[in-house]
Amino acid sequence: MNKEEILIIDFGGQYNQLIARRVREQNVFCEVVPNDISIDKIKEKKPRGIIFTGGPSSIYSDDAPKCIDEVFKLNIPILGICYGMQYMAYELKGRVKKANKREYGQMEVTIDNSSKLFNGLDETNVCLMSHTDYVDELPDGFKRIASTQTCKIAAMENEEKNFYAVQFHPEVNHTENGFRIIKNFVIDICGCKPTWKMDIFAQNAIKNLKEKIGEKKALCALSGGVDSSVAAVLLSKAIGRNLTCIFVDHGLLRKNEVEEVEEIFTQKFDVNFVKVDARQRFLEKLDGITSPEKKRKIIGEEFIRVFEEEAKKIGAVDYLVQGTIYPDVIESGLGKSSVIKSHHNVGGLPDYVDFKEIIEPLRDLFKDEVRNVGKELGLPDYLVNRQPFPGPGLAIRIIGNITKEKLDILKEADYIFREEIAKNNMEKELSQYFAVLTDTRSVGVMGDERTYDYLIALRAVITDDFMTAKFAKIPYDILEKISQRIVNEVKHVNRVVYDITSKPPATIEWE
Ligand code: XMP
Repeated sequence: MNKEEILIIDFGGQYNQLIARRVREQNVFCEVVPNDISIDKIKEKKPRGIIFTGGPSSIYSDDAPKCIDEVFKLNIPILGICYGMQYMAYELKGRVKKANKREYGQMEVTIDNSSKLFNGLDETNVCLMSHTDYVDELPDGFKRIASTQTCKIAAMENEEKNFYAVQFHPEVNHTENGFRIIKNFVIDICGCKPTWKMDIFAQNAIKNLKEKIGEKKALCALSGGVDSSVAAVLLSKAIGRNLTCIFVDHGLLRKNEVEEVEEIFTQKFDVNFVKVDARQRFLEKLDGITSPEKKRKIIGEEFIRVFEEEAKKIGAVDYLVQGTIYPDVIESGLGKSSVIKSHHNVGGLPDYVDFKEIIEPLRDLFKDEVRNVGKELGLPDYLVNRQPFPGPGLAIRIIGNITKEKLDILKEADYIFREEIAKNNMEKELSQYFAVLTDTRSVGVMGDERTYDYLIALRAVITDDFMTAKFAKIPYDILEKISQRIVNEVKHVNRVVYDITSKPPATIEWE
């Protein structure tokens, strides 16, 4: 594919992935690279523009991250953000002043909207500031293009050289029109064309995989989640039945999920689909286990055992397919090859599965891009737009000991919750929503009889990043209907509560 690339040089800031996502939203390819990248590597990538990210350091500290100063001589546009601005000013002989106090929060910024960077923006915008040091004197050839009450130089430019820098964070939602600033830089200043589209990506990926794999064999562990499903479908389009998908049914998926995955990969796509019924095995291993971390570990290990046994039956394969996506690559250490994506977040896939090479067809993509590829390839909406589901599955939504009876109760209650949310068209509003089976029982009354039954908790949150989350304000009448249905339709449940804690202090899951 003819990629128009923006290179994002990572100085350690917490919003770096967000910068990359904002660029991708312009349908322009970009990569996050470590700050010590060599000039040859940069040239090899032929970027149309470079973005310096923010970072926690002071430019004057001993370990302040820098990059090769020849980037300023490449004759391509550069945008510095926060620390990236200070770095640019420092390298180009402006002056950065150390400050004792951090400026943090949404500030009103007055901008010069005749600058190409701020084209189309109002004169004042509320922007997120988060910095200690600041640029005190402009480097030669630069002019100031924004300021706040406390920060004299909140943005600067050298139009001739196409160098721009902002002290605030255009990549976050807390900055008004931030996306427009990124767009102005990527499209107007760097001149990138919006060619990074998922239909083209999918076609190219299939063609390249076909050429690479030829008549050889590949193996894929399907979890039922979005990433491994999309990876498997790409491979199936490329190599058909030379792909074997192993799907371990550990009994901890939600109601109907096993059947849905099975149907897709046996009816809709032509692959060798192996479903392993390991439900009893997992129940036995989990018997009597109440510690959440122990549950995670047992499930992870058992998954590997089952996968290994099945893989052995198949014999040697040439390739192992992984659903690694770009955030995994960034999080597992830039520049280094990514660690094998662990299943259920414990351990990795076994070394003893006999394969020659790992294939990660989605390693350049963000989650929303993976979903779009899935759609392009004909995966049904309910699978592609699935809410996140933890690897250990329902095991960490049953508080305490896990039994078959409890799993059945939880599956039914969770299904009713999902069904009512869908009926009320709330699926897109909620980031994650599920039922939890607590290990509390309480007294109730049904007809003329006293009951002593389980307490179901409902959890629904709204979040962008899952690091923080707000509980969702689902209307009372919808909650009432869900509660009535669960108590009436699910045996052994006589009480339903709604979790109204945000994260922090609570986590999203209960275990
Ligand atoms: P918490 O509970 O930490 O969850 O607020 C944040 C997000 O991570 C998911 N989660 C997991 N995902 N394995 C996973 O693959 C796990 O062990 C696990 N624990 C939590 C959770 O569903 C939420 O989306």
